[in-house]
Amino acid sequence: MLDTASNQPTLSPEIARRRTFAIISHPDAGKTTLTEKFLLYGGAIQMAGQVRAKGEARRTRSDFMQMEKDRGISVSASAMSFDYGPYRFNLVDTPGHSDFSEDTYRTLTAVDAAVMVIDGAKGVESQTQKLFEVCRLRDLPILTFCNKMDRESRDTFEIIDEIQEMLAIDVTPASWPIGVGRDFIGCYDMLRDRLELMDRADRNKVAESIEIKGLDDPKLAEHVPAHLLDKLLEEVEMARELLPVLDPQAVLEGHMTPIWFGSAINSFGVKELMEGIGQYGPQPQVQSAEPRQISPDEKKVAGFVFKVQANMDPKHRDRVAFVRMASGHFKRGMKLTHVRSKKPMAITNPVLFLASDRELADEAWAGDIIGIPNHGQLRIGDTLTEGEAIRVTGIPSFAPELLQGVRAGDPMKAKHLEKALMQFAEEGAAKVFKPSIGSGFIVGVVGALQFEVLASRIELEYGLPVRFEASQFTSARWVSGDKAEVEKFVNANKQHIAHDHDGDIVYLTRLQWDIDRVVRDYPKLTLTATKEMM
Ligand code: G4P
Repeated sequence: MLDTASNQPTLSPEIARRRTFAIISHPDAGKTTLTEKFLLYGGAIQMAGQVRAKGEARRTRSDFMQMEKDRGISVSASAMSFDYGPYRFNLVDTPGHSDFSEDTYRTLTAVDAAVMVIDGAKGVESQTQKLFEVCRLRDLPILTFCNKMDRESRDTFEIIDEIQEMLAIDVTPASWPIGVGRDFIGCYDMLRDRLELMDRADRNKVAESIEIKGLDDPKLAEHVPAHLLDKLLEEVEMARELLPVLDPQAVLEGHMTPIWFGSAINSFGVKELMEGIGQYGPQPQVQSAEPRQISPDEKKVAGFVFKVQANMDPKHRDRVAFVRMASGHFKRGMKLTHVRSKKPMAITNPVLFLASDRELADEAWAGDIIGIPNHGQLRIGDTLTEGEAIRVTGIPSFAPELLQGVRAGDPMKAKHLEKALMQFAEEGAAKVFKPSIGSGFIVGVVGALQFEVLASRIELEYGLPVRFEASQFTSARWVSGDKAEVEKFVNANKQHIAHDHDGDIVYLTRLQWDIDRVVRDYPKLTLTATKEMM
């Protein structure tokens, strides 16, 4: 029996049991550890440590991954599916480093909810706040996990207040920590009147659950030392008086976040969080699209590409498009229409990302994430349908904030460089502009580290040493509007005109003053800092 919050559309049970979410956190808060425990309880891995071990094995395969390891960041996102109780969880991993936020933002368009992990000693950190704001733009429901309670942490009320104030969201405690740091023994389950006790001796052991009949149950004193019990009773009483009670509807609307306290490394609080995601997290949601939105319960299949990853396996040069299923029941071998090109595509070898491996996906339901290997037809923002011309909207493309010129170390290899750059542009790893005058390319990124990653990948994946160099330009604007006016503008500004990988016209400049002048002189033109992926 699925016990979900009210007011969700009645979906077929297969769709209704899906929970598609991402974890957002500041680096080091414990996202990897929590993911590992999710997979452990989801039966996707047998032993804690496999995610990391697998990561390391993979990293040794290439120096690019070595770089990822050196930096301690994860640059590539992936999707993982696993079952827990009656639920199917689809966890979409997001890179944590701020230089890769563009990828992260897009990932968040493919999920229905986010789990926000914070470090109990540090509270809301900068990256948490940034990612939270993105979730807020989409009113994504957020469930919070306050991690590392086995270490010295801040006062529970202080943490809750900080979240409420910094993120302007109501916080309701789903559990309440008992003791702190060395004294931390577990949590009082505020929703079910249970005592969850952590086992410090065995990190992988699931907490012992003790049913009690409310806070005046004498059984409490048998398990909680007197000095902790007094504090617990006092705090829970205060919390019940001062903090809002859990309102499932407010959670679904993104106005309230339930918070669980725990210690991912000690496997503590993780199951309660997973149950919470199942119970209070949203089912697959309606997808905004044009000319009409897509509802998950529609019979016909529709999905959209939110990420493209090239060269996942350097030996095979494959590209995988990550597709979020928006509606219907997909079966392997189905012919779908690639809406942008209006061409049919037979999806014969879709993959499902189980934690430890890729596996052929025989079927997928709305809410699932599948990978479609392809040779470049599928781009970020593309929609696949059973024939109808619908286009999913709202997948952002970010204004590049840093521009640099790039040249192949060997001038004879300029064509190869172009191919590599176009591929990364399609993958969404960078913006690539070909100036209409002169040779070479200009690459635009959101964070400086992306240049290094690109140089490293181009060398590794294409055997091409490249040089990035300062560019005379600092800003890029996409040009659209009245055809004759665009032509006039382009002809008068050749030195500043380039084309992106789709062939769209871009105006490159160094001065805001130039942009203001164009806006004034060419009233029928539109200059935009971003271009929606389509
Ligand atoms: P991230 O993906 O958010 O960056 O964090 P990650 O899980 O890698 O965790 C960051 C560090 O915090 C790791 O330590 C991890 O072991 C530790 N950690 C995670 N959860 C808990 C917890 O509940 N309690 C405590 N005390 N520590 C926790 P590390 O030393 O950087 O790595 P490792 O040597 O343990 O692998």
